[in-house]
Amino acid sequence: MPTIKEILQTMDYGPAPESTKEAQAWLDQHGRRFGLFIDNKWTEPLDTFGSFNPADGSELAQVTQATEADVALAVDAARRAHPGWVAMGGHGRATVLYTLARLLQKHSRLFAVLETLDNGKTIRETRDADIPLAARHFYHHAGWAQLQSEEFADYRAVGVVGQIVPWNFPLLMLAWKVAPALAAGNTIVFKPAEFTSLTTLLFAEICQMAGVPAGVFNVVTGDGRVGEAIVNHPDINKLAFTGSTEVGRIIRKATAGSGKKLSLELGGKSPFIVFDNADLDAAVEGLVDSIWFNQGQVCCAGSRLLVQESVYDRFIAKVKARMQNLRVGSPLDKSTDIGALVDPVQQQRIHGLVESARAEGCEVWQPVCDTPAAGSWYLPTLITGASTTATVAQTEIFGPVLVASSFRTPGEAVQLANNTVYGLAACVWTESISLALDMAPQLKAGVVWINTANQFDAACGFGGYKESGFGREGGKEGMYEYLTPRAEDARPALPLRAEKGKAKPVVSVNEAANPFQIDRTAKLYIGGKQARPDGAYSRAISGANGAFLADVGEGNRKDIRNAVEAAHKASGWAKATAHNRAQVLYYIAENLAVRADEFAARIAAQTGSKNAEREVQASIERLFYWAAWADKYDGLAHQPPMHGITVALNEPVGVIGVICPNENPLLGFISLVAPALALGNRVVAVPSEAHPLSALDLYQVLDTSDLPGGALNIVTGSHDELARTLASHFDIDAVWRHDGSAEGCAEVERLSSESLKRTWTGGAKGRDWFDAKQACGRVVLQHATQVKNVWIPYGV
Ligand code: NAI
Repeated sequence: MPTIKEILQTMDYGPAPESTKEAQAWLDQHGRRFGLFIDNKWTEPLDTFGSFNPADGSELAQVTQATEADVALAVDAARRAHPGWVAMGGHGRATVLYTLARLLQKHSRLFAVLETLDNGKTIRETRDADIPLAARHFYHHAGWAQLQSEEFADYRAVGVVGQIVPWNFPLLMLAWKVAPALAAGNTIVFKPAEFTSLTTLLFAEICQMAGVPAGVFNVVTGDGRVGEAIVNHPDINKLAFTGSTEVGRIIRKATAGSGKKLSLELGGKSPFIVFDNADLDAAVEGLVDSIWFNQGQVCCAGSRLLVQESVYDRFIAKVKARMQNLRVGSPLDKSTDIGALVDPVQQQRIHGLVESARAEGCEVWQPVCDTPAAGSWYLPTLITGASTTATVAQTEIFGPVLVASSFRTPGEAVQLANNTVYGLAACVWTESISLALDMAPQLKAGVVWINTANQFDAACGFGGYKESGFGREGGKEGMYEYLTPRAEDARPALPLRAEKGKAKPVVSVNEAANPFQIDRTAKLYIGGKQARPDGAYSRAISGANGAFLADVGEGNRKDIRNAVEAAHKASGWAKATAHNRAQVLYYIAENLAVRADEFAARIAAQTGSKNAEREVQASIERLFYWAAWADKYDGLAHQPPMHGITVALNEPVGVIGVICPNENPLLGFISLVAPALALGNRVVAVPSEAHPLSALDLYQVLDTSDLPGGALNIVTGSHDELARTLASHFDIDAVWRHDGSAEGCAEVERLSSESLKRTWTGGAKGRDWFDAKQACGRVVLQHATQVKNVWIPYGV
């Protein structure tokens, strides 16, 4: 008689197919041909292309390839609908979003089956993850619409937004983008990916049922050309994109200088770190969710497995055993783990990358199992023996392929984890809470999952560091992506000129306090020391009355390089306590106050301003203001629907290049540099090109205020030339430019696309630096930080 174990080994799952009847009927009802959804009406399907079921290659429907003219019609409809949608008020919009959530739930089975048919992902995932999470986003954002007048009183909707999504989570990505945009009062032109338009089209019908007013939500289907037409349309105010880093770069370049608000959620190569004290069996299950969820076609997939050396062999053996049990097959079968890839093109791409690994000498392991004859499939794959620089260890494969390696110490794990251009997510598995919480801040990623993987919730922001993009989706931070501060509307059309008084001579307290009286060439300030400019050139600075004031060093590319190096060496500033950073800023304010008369005289001598004393006082106050914020811009503890918390940390961006305004040479400089420092960034600042001396007079103030060398570096010279160098530099994380140069700001945005650094530019408009509404507040704090969400489940 066979043993129970033997019986169990011979048992298999019976088929448990989900019925497609309702979804097929819906497709038939539309004659399997879809037009565009513009202004609440369906256009005639003219130029169409096929949408296929990746599991068997059959055609599901014909979908329209929109033209540039169609996009223009959709933008026009959205523009016309905008005032009415805003006028509906927060509560009015909340009721519409709530109805959308209810209808998504009511039709959840139809959405789930249609998504599985169109995308190839398993019904288990669409039913249990994609659709419920999409509904949750609409519920959550109905709440933000309701609370808008209270929580975002100083903000207004951005306007018409263009949203472009990929094919890996068609409806979920729609929900992530559409729910906050609608809640905030924007109207939308939406483009699904060409492989997966069907649930978006069904959602358009749901919008009609929910009473979304005409023109508020418009759908244009088609390939990248339609996306391009949205990106380039002049009447779009904001673009939200999820997709490949390559297209993200194109969009950043295309929108440079346009004033369009932009958020990019791009690729990843996320580490999955397993320490020797982890619950290894739980970690294996986490890994399955991390890399084999949606066939690995997930931007935050844990595609790089890093295992502590002492348990590496044991863990790999467990992973292989688990892989052998993964069920590959019909996505409509409720017991299938791995469905079809979205398109044969992806299959070929993955195959090419895996074969390149084999050719490079890596070991490629796959379980023995059959795949259906038709459709696009790829077996779960484990690659070992890849060097850290191998293509498969660095490139986003976007398939069910895991690349494993080992590490010895936590320090090495951090180094390996961060050794990628991406920074979307990371998983840490250990039973030691202190080790886990020590790792989380060191990992350069927008999301860190501790002892869990691929958890999402509408209340918790999601988005990347580095080349994984910028901006967040979900949570309160996600709402800001669809809002504009009202103070921006009050900004003057041009930079404000100083109201001229009589130029005053510089009052020198003593020679030490004003070294330019003797040697009139002011140096640069790098690594806490005065440095001669590399090019040995200087430029003469004259005062308001035309008289020569001083020569200042003409910084060049090499000086910026040195300054960036010094800034990176000053990493201690980011780790200093917030209290400590506040103390330094207060100290700078105190030392500035001692020399207030001298600084006022210098401002007056340079600009002829009548308000020089006021500018110095405002600068002192501003230092106090940002010192006050240093230890108060706390994160949040979210309570997502899991047993645990998600801690949203406001982390510094890193090294920020700052091009200061020309006007208000002291207040403009302090207003930008102080918040960056307060939040733990290191700064390479380029002071006012016309009036740089006020910033240079600060050297001695800085030297006597305990600011560590390298935290703030000052390079004088041509704004255009130095901004160009800062924006192209690969070791700078963000560039701010606020000197009123439209072309200069556009160039910063264009050049920043190479390393996808964050930018904050003021364009051609001015800013009243005395006005706290325009120069202070949450917007500045947000530019000086990036949010990392750390998920910490409870339980034993
Ligand atoms: P993609 O980035 O080309 O497409 C994403 C969306 O952008 C689609 O709606 C597409 O039509 C649109 N698009 C394409 N070119 C555009 C342009 N020039 N301007 C505006 N919109 C444009 O991604 P694709 O081709 O579908 O996949 C290629 C690779 O990208 C994948 O193998 C994967 O590695 C990566 N990818 C990453 C995603 C992520 O979430 N991180 C999502 C999808 C793809």
